[in-house]
Amino acid sequence: LNKEGFRNEPMRDFSQAPVRAHFREAIATVRSRLGMRYPLVIGGEEIETQETIVSVNPSRPDEVVGVVARATAEDAEAALRAAEAAGPGWAKLPASERAKYLFALAEQMRKWRDHLAGWMVFEVGKNWREADGDVCEAIDFCEYYAREMLRLDTPQRLGSLPGELNLMFYQPRGVAAVIAPWNFPLAILCGMTVAAAVTGNTVIMKPAEQSSVIAAKLMALTREAAFPPGVINYLPGLGEEVGEHLVQSPKTHLIAFTGSMDVGLEILRKAAHTDPRAQQHVKKVVCEMGGKNAIIVDADADLDEAVQGVLQAAFGFQGQKCSACSRAIVHAACYEEFKTRLVEATRSLILGAADDPAHAIGPVVDAAARDKIRGYIDYAKAEETLLIERETPADGYFVGPTIFEVRDPASRLMQEEIFGPVLALIKVDDFGQALDVANGTRFALTGGVYSRSPLNIDRARREFRVGNLYINQKCTGALVYRQPFGGFKMSGVGAKAGGPDYLVQFMEPRSMTENT
Ligand code: NAD
Ligand code: ALA
Repeated sequence: LNKEGFRNEPMRDFSQAPVRAHFREAIATVRSRLGMRYPLVIGGEEIETQETIVSVNPSRPDEVVGVVARATAEDAEAALRAAEAAGPGWAKLPASERAKYLFALAEQMRKWRDHLAGWMVFEVGKNWREADGDVCEAIDFCEYYAREMLRLDTPQRLGSLPGELNLMFYQPRGVAAVIAPWNFPLAILCGMTVAAAVTGNTVIMKPAEQSSVIAAKLMALTREAAFPPGVINYLPGLGEEVGEHLVQSPKTHLIAFTGSMDVGLEILRKAAHTDPRAQQHVKKVVCEMGGKNAIIVDADADLDEAVQGVLQAAFGFQGQKCSACSRAIVHAACYEEFKTRLVEATRSLILGAADDPAHAIGPVVDAAARDKIRGYIDYAKAEETLLIERETPADGYFVGPTIFEVRDPASRLMQEEIFGPVLALIKVDDFGQALDVANGTRFALTGGVYSRSPLNIDRARREFRVGNLYINQKCTGALVYRQPFGGFKMSGVGAKAGGPDYLVQFMEPRSMTENT
């Protein structure tokens, strides 16, 4: 086992014909396996349920991707008991042993890499490249957190007084509820799960309803990687039902949540309640929430780069990334040229079913998302200036990339997370005003600046207050270890996934002093 040597998993190079052919084969295999049933997995046992979640392909909603068991509160209780029972044995294992399971899981994901990506193409409408990136990130989380745990396992010696030995070290918290979103259906679920497990906690995975099949694939690979029964449990179900049960249960010690602000705030509120009869601990909540991210285009920006960066950050995976750019704040000196070029670039995007690599833009995740995003577009048509709205294919849950020109930084399009391919473009007079507009939301997740001015770049570093700031680079696609990811304000209270502060949140620190 090696603490050093972490490298990001290289993405597939789809310009190579054999790589494309291999991916196409995986897509065909996945297609041949659509419609299967997926039970709960609790304490290593597969459990069928009466109610199910039917997961469909958002590119072609007639196509059933899988029929997934839908857990009840009683199932959640059974999962909590199984996780509790597996806890002491798992916590006692040396960290180096636990880390081996993560390396084994990373190996399994490498083995099934294109298939896993294929499931994402079908279940959530990721295009090939986005789906491949999601698998790479999941592998990275395993490789990185395993190494991080090896680093943290060595007790730290503190102070230097002769005759006194001070050691600081960590212990697991207990049972972890991992409540995940659908937009990085493998990476984020896997990242939170393996972080909780490698630190010695036992885990109940509650995936998002929309991506429960991909989560079942992850569960299957944890079994291939031989995680002991009960250490990782699979509990698909409704957020308001089983998610809420896990949050409120006194058996839960730790909640790792990634999702929307509204749900995150509700979880923080409910988790704070302690049941005096059944609970001797306060729950820890690692809570990553939404964003309303901006890219600033300065007067002297390289517009070739800026147009591409904004385009990809705004419309990649149909704008359904917490990191997506939903506000472009552009200096008056280049505003008209940037606007014309961005609108033309948007016109060139090809829309269609996610399984065809010719399509840059696929569907949004489901009918509810489509209707919510279209609602914003209809509202904005009455209030703002529409610059472009793309036609959509007739079938599937599509929303075309849409850009509005906006004047008021306080308008809804500039303030609310839409979570779809809708971009607000606003003109500013100088860099200071650009920063004021950029910082003028309740979120603080990602941001970008395209500028050639060293002074303005330095000013942005100090004054553009977001968790992840990118200079002359798009504001999506953070890589594990290189760009630890996460925000503050209403974007979350977690510490940077994929970074050196992440795992300590999943443990309790202790110290011991010995008078030697
Ligand atoms: P969501 O909040 O609707 O759901 C997230 C999870 O919470 C799901 O598993 C859901 O079933 C569960 N849930 C819903 N209600 C619950 C309740 N009352 N109690 C317990 N659990 C409940 O979010 P989503 O639509 O799946 O994901 C999109 C959101 O996630 C966006 O707001 C996006 O910005 C955010 N996100 C943030 C990050 C980040 O790192 N900050 C990353 C990805 C996504
Ligand atoms: N980590 C993801 C990104 O940076 C959300 O796009």
